[in-house]
Amino acid sequence: MKKLVVVFLVLVSINTFSQKFEGLAETPPLGWNSWNTFATDINEELVKGIADKFIELGLKDAGYEYIVLDDGWMAKERDANGNLIADPVKFPNGMKALADYIHSKGLKFGIYNCAGSKTCGGYPGSRGFEYQDARLYASWDVDYLKYDWCNTEKLNAEGAYMTMRDALKKAGRPIVFSICEWGDNEPWKWAKDVGHAWRVTGDIINCWDCEIGHGSWSSRGVWKIINLREDIRKFAGPGHWNDYDMMEVGNGMTDAEDRSHFAMWSMLASPLIMGNDLRTASKETVKTLANKEVIAVNQDKLGIQGFRFSNENNFEIWLKPLEKDAWAMTFVNMSDETKSIDFDWIKHGFGDDLNGKWVDLKQQKFSIRDLYNHKNLGDTSSNLKAEIGSHDVLMIKMVKK
Ligand code: GLA
Repeated sequence: MKKLVVVFLVLVSINTFSQKFEGLAETPPLGWNSWNTFATDINEELVKGIADKFIELGLKDAGYEYIVLDDGWMAKERDANGNLIADPVKFPNGMKALADYIHSKGLKFGIYNCAGSKTCGGYPGSRGFEYQDARLYASWDVDYLKYDWCNTEKLNAEGAYMTMRDALKKAGRPIVFSICEWGDNEPWKWAKDVGHAWRVTGDIINCWDCEIGHGSWSSRGVWKIINLREDIRKFAGPGHWNDYDMMEVGNGMTDAEDRSHFAMWSMLASPLIMGNDLRTASKETVKTLANKEVIAVNQDKLGIQGFRFSNENNFEIWLKPLEKDAWAMTFVNMSDETKSIDFDWIKHGFGDDLNGKWVDLKQQKFSIRDLYNHKNLGDTSSNLKAEIGSHDVLMIKMVKK
């Protein structure tokens, strides 16, 4: 009997201390991260300014929540007790004050570190300090941790991320745990119970379909990332997402390309983490990022990642099943010129094998809503006709009639 009690207590304690915080990121996280535009050139004024813009530009209202400081927020050395310290020049009032500011706006605060001995930018990493760092973040009221993978030598990825997960759990504050090991160790296969999202590739770059090699890794544009990770949709769902990286909307692609990029990240149920300077963003960029109808596709409660339906005649067509038997459908014009679609619903029919969802368009009609132009486009009883500019998108929601 005694033995049984001991086994029971051990099981209870393992259960208490070795699982991620549940109930977080039930839909993909929405937010902003400093890296794509600012790299390590970040400071308190910038971050406060971004928080202000969340409110002013209607981004908070559209659902964006997390403001995440990426690499470069720390001093180059830990203090005498081994604690991380905020860079005193960049963040003169420290991290707790910044967290308080962000929270006072009704937003949430995210921070970055790395599983290795140093971060990718050469700042102190968490290796060997996981529990101490987790306690510190909790004391600063951090809500989100992006955890990178530089300088990890022969560390086992699953083990390293589990250690940090356990450290966060032990620290007791619910913190979204965003795994960033670039897909090197196929985190989609093991990270469901470890983190709330995992990066699936190396770093994004602000181009439509380019790839730039850096020796052991490449930066990839929007379509290179999408095409590299086609077969992992079954691993994503509420609380555990494939992360296609921070967005490059507003960072130099055309407005049409930005619309397509945003539509695709929404179809893929990826975290939507803005990566541009919101203080100088154009009207068109804000219009794209704050589009509630598109965001609703990303945030759909079913949490099913979309998939490629077809790729013909220069059109990528993607589908995503939504709640209440609705669907999102996205047509992207991959060509260099404006093209027309004349889409015959009856001829095509569609469904999602993985989730056992099928639609018989001979029996069932759907109404069609254009999510970028905020217009109703009739229903599926006649062909869907539209002109779509080069690299632009028609994104629709279909609702059963
Ligand atoms: C890696 C990550 C990036 C960014 C940098 C910071 O490259 O993949 O997203 O966090 O490190 O140094």
